[in-house]
Order: sequence, then structure tokens, then C-alpha cells
Amino acid sequence: MALDIAAIRAQIPALKSGSARFDAPGGTQVPQPVVDAVAAAMTAPLANRGRTTEGERNADRIVVEARAALADLLGTTPETVVFGRSATQLAYDLSRMLAKTWRPGDEVVVTRLDHDSNIRPWVQAAASAGATVRWADFDPVTGELRPEHVQAVLSPRTRLVAVTAASNLIGTRPDLPALSALVHEVGALFHVDAVHYASHAVVDLAALGADTLVVSPYKWLGPHLGVLTGRAELLRTLRPDKLLPSSDAVPERFELGTLPYELLAGTRAAVDFLAGLDPAARGGRRERLIASFAALEGHEETLRDRLERGLARLGAVTVHTRAERRTPTLLFTVAGHAPADVSRHLARHGVDAPAGSFYAVEAAHRLGLGVEGGVRVGLAPYSDADDVDRLLAALAALVEGRGTRTRPGTPRPPARRTDARCGTEGTAEVTS
Ligand SMILES: Cc1ncc(COP(=O)(O)O)c(C=O)c1O
Repeated sequence: MALDIAAIRAQIPALKSGSARFDAPGGTQVPQPVVDAVAAAMTAPLANRGRTTEGERNADRIVVEARAALADLLGTTPETVVFGRSATQLAYDLSRMLAKTWRPGDEVVVTRLDHDSNIRPWVQAAASAGATVRWADFDPVTGELRPEHVQAVLSPRTRLVAVTAASNLIGTRPDLPALSALVHEVGALFHVDAVHYASHAVVDLAALGADTLVVSPYKWLGPHLGVLTGRAELLRTLRPDKLLPSSDAVPERFELGTLPYELLAGTRAAVDFLAGLDPAARGGRRERLIASFAALEGHEETLRDRLERGLARLGAVTVHTRAERRTPTLLFTVAGHAPADVSRHLARHGVDAPAGSFYAVEAAHRLGLGVEGGVRVGLAPYSDADDVDRLLAALAALVEGRGTRTRPGTPRPPARRTDARCGTEGTAEVTS
């Protein structure tokens, strides 16, 4: 069933600004039902979770409903759904917990394809335990991370392998079940960063072969927070540092402090919105999510094709997204123009497409792009053919030397700030 994009767009207030938005890999725009759910949680009586007062019951219901929604989205069970501040925070927490059992001589594998949030926590946890870090490379020509890349750095001492389900920089989707089989053969744990992947494909923890996995609702129409899930038996063996009076149950023992109930309410609404993308879908929420993501993949494939064919016609544009299995997230550079300048040019034409390396600093360096990276265009459920055509027209203007024209009354956007908050080898990025 084809998506009704006009109906989807009509429910997203931020789209009224009129920009053609390609910045979804950094964070999506939010549908009104998600906003309404956040507001409803904050305008009804709300207290700490409990069963006595109305406020306590509301908080409890919100948490229970949010865990159930995430379980449906991730193909897991509510008892294994852990909420946190962000995927980065959850990866740090998990890495510190697991590192308690690592010893000098143990090995941890990270990849050069990943967002830094699935690299640095493991590198630093390994250092604290005296464990060795081994780097899995990827092919910079095809952008592919293949099983042999991981196989090459596995050993009987491998304790954990951390891999992305999809690159937020170039969209590559490694074959996770194949990687998982290799990782489990040497008895290691397989941690998956599904933050970018979950915007484009339905997650199934067991089918992907992941032991633990993180996602971030703000990448799929929800509020800004992070979610961790994992195999129930594994989570039951993990002991986080926690406050004495807080619950020792799984998953509560992993959730430090009071949960952001209003954001959990919004997250549940975002999952319901995703499940409704295909209005003809029937069955339980998981079934409707599977059908809706199938429809979304079809829609995004059509648009990606239009985008890729259009970019190929612009001679000066090099597209760095090349893997056979990829999300509709394209990184490109334009000969003779710095990525940040291209992004500014596009902004002047009402097209939002940021430039940089998006915290995937290792990957950007491996691709030979350095910290400047490229211009990233990503699709979302609200993207349409008109957005794509506006992007292509603005790029054509740049390539044909009509790029310096500024629309009357359009202020020049400020330069994207770079500082040293995060990064390696002296590189820095602000957006991710
Ligand atoms: C692939 C990927 N992993 C991890 C993250 C970090 O997510 P969070 O902002 O929830 O920490 C991002 C954010 O852009 C991402 O794209």
C-alpha cells in the first residue's frame, strides 16, 4: 500500500515553515499527535510512579504503555525496554557495566563505519579495564562493511563487538545476522547501534542477532531520548551502579533517576503514528508496524532513486553513498565547493541539508573527506518528490554558477559552528 504523504505532512506542524527538509538523520520533525501526547501527560495530574493517587497511576500507565510500544517497535518484550537520556548515554552506561568483567588481554571490536557514540564508549571502557581495542575496517570505495572485515579482527579473546545497523553518514546497512553468527562463534557479545536504521526499517532484536541494541526516538518522529533493549537473560546478569532505594528489577535498575514521563508519552504516540503510516494495515501494533515500514521502504526507495538519478546528472557532484544495502541517506560533495558552503547555498534556496561528518569522524576520515565531510541528505516519512526536485534544482543552480544568488530578504544563515566538544584526531562536529 502506498503512503498518503500529503496526509502525513498535514499532521506535522514544523513543515509549515516551507523548507524542503533533508535533515532527518539528525532528527525528524514531530507530528501533532506526538506533541499532543506530551502536552496531555503534562496537563493531567502527574506524580512519581505508583498506584495510589491519580498522578501516580498516570505516571505508571505512561511507562507501561511506552515500554509496550517500544517492545512492538523493536521486536522484543516490555521487560527489556530501558529508557535513558540518549543512545550515547545508554552506550556509556552499558560499556561501563560490561567492562567490569573485562580483563587485560581481552579484546573489544569497534568499526570505522560507526557514529562515535558506538566507538568511544567502548574504547574508553576497554582502556579502563586494560582490554585491547581492535578496529574493523570498511571498504572506502564501496562503503561496505562486510563479514570478512569483522572476521579479520575476531579472536578467542573477543568479549564484545559493536557495529552499526546503518551508517548515519553514508547509509550502509551491514549484514548483521551474518556478523552476529561470526561474533557468537567466538563467544562474544554483539552490540548494535540501530539509531539510524530504525528510521527506515523495522527492528527485530533476535532476527538481527543482537544481544543489546540502542535507538533514539527523535530519529523517528518522537521526542529526544534514548532506548536500550537486549536479551532478557543477559540484562538480568548485568549490575549497574545505582541508588540504594531505587528498584532492583529489570529494566528499572538501569534507569537512573526519575523517567521523563512526558517524553515517554510522546514516544508511545510516535510508535503509534509509525504503525499508522499504512492506513490499510491490520492486526496488532507489531503487525501494523511491519506493514507500515514495508510501505515506507517502498516510498523511500522511489524517492532515493529519483534523488540518485538527479544527482548523477549533475556532473560536479560525487555521491559517497554506494553500498548495495543502504538507507536513503546520501552523502555527497560538489567539486570546487566546501560542503559547508553547499549547505549554506541550499539553505538560501529553502533546502535544509546540513554539512559535516556528523560524529562519524572515523568514517569521514576513512572516506578521505576529513572533518569537513560532505553534505548529507536523508529522507523521512514526510519527504516527497517536490522536496527532491527543489534540492536538485538548487544544486543545479550552484553547479551552473548561479549559486551566489540570495533571495531578497533572506538573511545569510550563520556558519555551522565547530568546536572541540567531541571527535578524534583534533576533529570536531556539533551536529550528529
Ligand atoms: C547512528 C547514530 N548512532 C548514535 C547516535 C547518537 O544518538 P543520541 O543523540 O541519542 O545519543 C546518532 C545520532 O545522530 C546516530 O545517528
